[in-house]
Amino acid sequence: MAMDMELEMVLRPPQLPMPPYPPKMVTLANGKVMVIRQAVREDVPAILKSVHPCLFIERDYYDVVSARVYGELLAWYRYRVKSEYCLLGQVDGYLVGLVNGRLENEKVGMSYHTLAIDRGLRIGSHLFAAKMEYHMEYLNQDQVLVVAESPIGFRRWMVEYPLIETRIPHELGGGDSWVLTRETYFNAKPRLVVGDRPVPQELMDEAMLDIKFADDDTIRERIAGLKGR
Ligand SMILES: CC(C)(COP(=O)(O)OP(=O)(O)OC[C@H]1O[C@@H](n2cnc3c(N)ncnc32)[C@H](O)[C@@H]1OP(=O)(O)O)[C@@H](O)C(=O)NCCC(=O)NCCS
Repeated sequence: MAMDMELEMVLRPPQLPMPPYPPKMVTLANGKVMVIRQAVREDVPAILKSVHPCLFIERDYYDVVSARVYGELLAWYRYRVKSEYCLLGQVDGYLVGLVNGRLENEKVGMSYHTLAIDRGLRIGSHLFAAKMEYHMEYLNQDQVLVVAESPIGFRRWMVEYPLIETRIPHELGGGDSWVLTRETYFNAKPRLVVGDRPVPQELMDEAMLDIKFADDDTIRERIAGLKGR
């Protein structure tokens, strides 16, 4: 059926301009190099292939977080969300984690989710740091509103940065927001925000060529261990 473009333009929310996130590389504890780069809308179907197996992993709230990420990325793909972005972590081309969020307005960012698809390497921690780096250093925002859905998330963001508790509701509808201010970010930066630029061309080419995805059993084993099967 042909799309009614006039109605479509009413349904599509306006987008704030967003400068790109410059890619960087982070050497993980196992010696592998993770490329962190911004996804484009057309990447969404490939990204969802790695998110899908996580929907069925109850451990550490992977199910609820993945289901929400899946919906948020689909909403971006189908032009149903305002000013969303997604940053990817790739090792040897494989998607090992992602973060997403959006701009509430020019000065306030809304953090959505962090999903580590390989574990024990602080991949989620590096990706969350990249997301805060994007909001503060490239989007030049004053604050980012964050909630945690899991105890590990709470430890990683609220405690490690540390974020400041507020009574501001968060878009995800759970607990109230905790806020990352510019001061908190720049204080935490030497401890938590790492990576090198520029990314060598061959690494960038590998990441851009294909968003590779591991099979369901491999993803389940990486996230939940053998016991999780
Ligand atoms: C929260 C999250 C992004 C953190 O990612 P991360 O920084 O890469 O950390 P990991 O998940 O690998 O490890 C967290 C802890 O669990 C342990 N762990 C649990 N299961 C593990 C597994 N299967 N393999 C390796 N480590 C595991 C790690 O040793 C680590 O311990 P530490 O905190 O003492 O370092 C990630 O756990 C995740 O995606 N969770 C599900 C979604 C979620 O909760 N997102 C955040 C919402 S607020």
